[in-house]
Formats: sequence, C-alpha cells, structure tokens
Amino acid sequence: MVKAVVAGASGGIGQPLSLLLKLSPYIDELALYDVVNSPGVAADLSHISTKAKVTGYLPANDGLKGAMTGADVVVIPAGIPRKPGMTRDDLFNINAGIVRDLITGIAQYAPKAFVLIISNPVNSTVPIAAEVLKKHGVFDPTKLFGVTTLDVVRSETFTAAVLGESDPSAFKIPVIGGHSGDTIVPLLSLARPAVTISDSDRDALIKRIQFGGDEVVEAKEGKGSATLSMAHAGFRFVESILKAVAGETGIVENTYVYLPGIPGGSETKSDVAGLDFFSVPVELGADGAVKVQNIISSVSEYEKSLLEVAYKGLSTSIQKGVDFVVNAPESK
Ligand code: 2OP
Repeated sequence: MVKAVVAGASGGIGQPLSLLLKLSPYIDELALYDVVNSPGVAADLSHISTKAKVTGYLPANDGLKGAMTGADVVVIPAGIPRKPGMTRDDLFNINAGIVRDLITGIAQYAPKAFVLIISNPVNSTVPIAAEVLKKHGVFDPTKLFGVTTLDVVRSETFTAAVLGESDPSAFKIPVIGGHSGDTIVPLLSLARPAVTISDSDRDALIKRIQFGGDEVVEAKEGKGSATLSMAHAGFRFVESILKAVAGETGIVENTYVYLPGIPGGSETKSDVAGLDFFSVPVELGADGAVKVQNIISSVSEYEKSLLEVAYKGLSTSIQKGVDFVVNAPESK
C-alpha cells in the first residue's frame, strides 16, 4: 500500500500534479492537503476510475495530521508563484514559512516519508526542510529531495529544438547545481547522444535552459509561473521514487540533496566548493538515495566556469534557508 500526499494540492501545480498521481498505478491512496478547496479537488479526482483512493484535507479538524499520517511520499508544491520581473528568491518571505510549517507536520506525522520539495526558492526551501527535520530529530538525508527535474526536462526539449530532433526524450542531459537562473548548470558536454553545436548556439541554449522559467512567467503576464510542465516534472520524479520503492533498479535522477548524508556525497561536496546542498545525479533505491554520482571531474572547462558562478549564488541561498530555521526567534 502506497500513500502519497500533495501539500498545496489546490494550486496551479498542485491540481495537475494530483491528476497525474491519480493516474499512477503505483499509488493506492492520494491525500490532498491545502488551505482552501482541497476537498473539492479531491471530490473531482475521486470520480476517475483508477485505483488510488482520494481524500481532501483542510487545516481545520487536524487536517495536516490526517493528510500526513501514514504517508510514504509527500510532494510539496505549496506557496505563491512568481510574477514578471521577480526571481525565485523574491518568494522567500512567504514560501519559507509555508514550507517550514508543512515540514513540521511531516516531522510529527510522517517522519519516514520521502519528501519532495517543489516550492520555490528550492535552493533555500530544501535547507529549511533539512533544518526543521533536524530540529525534530528525524532528518534522513536519503529521503529529502529538491525537485529540479524541470531543468532536465527543459534541457531535453530545448536541445532537441536546437538540433532539429523530433523526440526530446531521446536526450539524457545531466543538469546540476541549483534551481534558479545561473545556479542551473546544464552539462551539455556529457549529453547522450552527444550534442555538437557552435559556441554561440551553446551559450544561447544554456541561457534558455537556465532562464526557461522566465519565458513562462512572462507569457502568463502576471498570472503565475510554470504549472503544467512543473506538474509533469514533479510527477516524473515521484514515479522514479515509486518505481525504486517497488524494487526497480538502475534509476537515476538529478535532484537537489544534502550531500554529506548520502553515500558518495562527501567527495562531491569537496568538489563543489564545500556546499552542503547541490543538485547531482542520484541513484535511487527502495529506501531512498543510495549513491551520489560524482560527475564534476568530467565537466568541460567552460562548464567549470558556469559552476563557479553557481557556487556563489547557492552559498548565499543555502545560508539564508539555514538561518531562517536556526536563527528563528522561537529557537533562540
Ligand atoms: C520553474 O522553473 C516554477 O520554478 C519553476 O518554472
């Protein structure tokens, strides 16, 4: 029996993500939590003739407890999205508290669950989650993941477009670092099949992958950021986790993790300027992250220069997340 929870299920990402999860053969129970409308979304999805039993919870009547209890996997897209001109970091003031409170519920009611964070700024919200889980004595780094899959999805799509290939899914392109602007580092030199393009096309392609989210924010003209492609990406990552739980082997996803807590992570940490959190290819097993694949030594000189920029941005964002919990007034 697998129970999945979507925290933030009524929102722009939460609804399509919940729909995709309702269609998954790996899920027996789907609990939808949000501050508004989650019973309505649950009622709607419950009419779909797939096996997952859908329930909706609001904060009243211990709803967070009801949603989280017994969860195997919790996905968190909760929070506000960007408007044109905003960076993901501009969302920190509102989303940091939302993520902290949801993670507190997970620590209390589902401490063994896989936790997948979509809420932005992911570069800071994952460190926030780690610190909250640590405070409650239940931090398992092999089960905490920042979802950076949309950067991988975009790199496949945009690379296929540049090369005139009809099937983007033919490409495997590692994307490492973080999930914001120039902290996103696509490793085109390690792409399979190989990507051969001019330096100027390469530079434009990398910029497009790094700032792909802005294209959607601008096209939506103030009505939010990527929701449907993000729901797809979140679903792709959840399915990888659930396949690994079901015993499938050889599953690797690029994801933003706490490096020192995963086998192979400490070596990578020393290769990425000592950062604790970084998106890397991670092998998944039935109990969570099994191994970090260290590919930093294989990157090109050009990609090393992109990484140097990413380290600076990430260092600030990680510290901001840690400080939000560790130096919060109530913990002094
Ligand atoms: C994006 O990359 C919403 O962070 C999300 O578009």
